[in-house]
Amino acid sequence: MRVAVLNGPNLNLLGVREPALYGHETLADIEAMVRAEAALLDVELEWVQTNHEGALVDAVQGLRGRTDGAVVNPAAYGHTSLALRDAFLAVQVPFVEVHLTNIFGREAERRQTVLADLAVAVIAGLGARGYTVGLRALVDGLRAG
Ligand code: DQA
Repeated sequence: MRVAVLNGPNLNLLGVREPALYGHETLADIEAMVRAEAALLDVELEWVQTNHEGALVDAVQGLRGRTDGAVVNPAAYGHTSLALRDAFLAVQVPFVEVHLTNIFGREAERRQTVLADLAVAVIAGLGARGYTVGLRALVDGLRAG
């Protein structure tokens, strides 16, 4: 089984970016944790981070036919990007939406996502653990058929 983890803008700055909110772990730390979980689950993992909306759309389009599912932290594009939503609608690849913070308890403009209703599940507020919980849940669901 092959799963992609897609990370949106500014997540490359985790560790230095607003640490009181996002913690001290870097994206490389999170990647290592998720790769370890993927190995336990016997899942082949692809890892992407981009700051560019179009590149994120390209990455979603690229899931089609070669990836069984995705774990996606769309970052701010999750609140705004109809292009990203349209890409997920087009490819029909199951995905779990992950946010490190509990976006539902933050500013009004972060409390909604344009992807949530398309997602298998939304995990918000578990920090980096949300990625591994999301991966495990996604894989369990895919294996259960
Ligand atoms: C985020 C939440 C978004 O509102 C924000 O724009 C991010 C990170 C999170 O992981 O909590 O960049 O997706």
